[in-house]
Amino acid sequence: MNKIVINGSGKLNGTLSVNGAKNSALPILAATLIAEGEYSIDNIPDLKDIRTMIKLLETFGLKAEKTDDHSYKITNSGVKDIEAPYELVKEMRASFVVMGSLLAHVKKARVSLPGGCAIGTRPIDFHLQGFEKLGAKIVLDHGFVTAEAVELVGARVKLPFPSVGATQNILMAAVKAKGETTILNAAREPEIDDLSSFLNKMGANISGIGTDELKIQGVEKLIPCKHSIIPDRIEAGTFIIASIINDGDLEIQGVIKEHLKGFIKKLEKMGVEFEFNNDRLKIKADLEKLKPVKISTEPYPGFPTDLQAQTMVLLSLTNGKSELKETIFENRFMHVLELNRMGAKIKLEGNKASINGPVDFIGAEVSATDLRAGAALVLAGLVADNTTIVNEIQHIERGYEDLVERLQSVGAKISKQ
Ligand code: UD1
Repeated sequence: MNKIVINGSGKLNGTLSVNGAKNSALPILAATLIAEGEYSIDNIPDLKDIRTMIKLLETFGLKAEKTDDHSYKITNSGVKDIEAPYELVKEMRASFVVMGSLLAHVKKARVSLPGGCAIGTRPIDFHLQGFEKLGAKIVLDHGFVTAEAVELVGARVKLPFPSVGATQNILMAAVKAKGETTILNAAREPEIDDLSSFLNKMGANISGIGTDELKIQGVEKLIPCKHSIIPDRIEAGTFIIASIINDGDLEIQGVIKEHLKGFIKKLEKMGVEFEFNNDRLKIKADLEKLKPVKISTEPYPGFPTDLQAQTMVLLSLTNGKSELKETIFENRFMHVLELNRMGAKIKLEGNKASINGPVDFIGAEVSATDLRAGAALVLAGLVADNTTIVNEIQHIERGYEDLVERLQSVGAKISKQ
């Protein structure tokens, strides 16, 4: 069961529900290291990355119990170990966010240098500079980073770039620091807001949520809380593209319009119409009449890099020459080669892709090189003539729960073999 086989049908009918956001659930699970007691967290997607984070928490001495398909009870009866081992951190770069929460609670953390998707060098210098500003001493040895502080003291931390992970890590380290911390040029992604509201429910004092200037007044004690994770805007965006490129009548449930504004704005410019009924969405688009567009990925609220690969499939089916510029990661075009093997006409020049459409996708045997690249290949397969075989699907399974079964439920001819 390590490949996905698709026979493009071009018709999807029914309802697809969006799951909880992986990128929100991961730092929120890491935040349970901050205070002792029992947490109840709902709407957690059932994914390998989540299981990796749970294993990490267990390594530190926490207990995790799955109370239903998408809920966990986490019990923190004291952190017993502070080392995040290579076997777990290499599986997932987001493991690095345990550094901030361990620092907040036990003032010491030792974390193996992270792995994750192969979409660029993805350094952690901003995270470490932030910890240092708060008074931690950082030592790098044998592939591990150790951070330690006698006392964390609030500071002004200006990020050179609004890094999502660095904002989360510094935020968590700061909640119990003495005095006030300001994170300037903070990331504004909805997943940061979700983490901030989780921490505030625990008793933290974070203001400026949703802006690029987060203020954190350190508090002495935090307590556990109950929380429900926000819907996954990237999964929603992937389903939106599936709906546009496939004929039929698809409804997407669980979409927060505001979270997708940068994406929706560009698609509206192309001629796509969105009909929201609270969190239910129907999309109207005539693929033949859509206009080409120029897109540049940007930090939130701009166009998300995590939807760049999937959007290339839509642009390949659109009449005319579109342009997609990737400004967040330097090596995030690995899907282009595979899409071109399926008939796309995409030319790369540095961080810019020129997409000539419309093309007819033709089924081929391809490989997912990372999570979102994999999603793009599945989307192309859904509309391709003949059979598409997508290999290396472990990447797709890191971020989409039961994608094959859910697409089958709306009529796609797709299976796992
Ligand atoms: C998070 C998301 C990922 C998304 C990305 C950008 C999670 C688990 N992952 O990744 O899906 O694609 O945000 O929206 O939430 N950088 C540095 N130094 C640092 C930190 C980052 O130079 O210390 C650079 C990175 O190399 C990259 C850019 O900043 O070029 C953005 O990275 P960042 O926002 O940190 O992404 P992640 O948190 O890793």
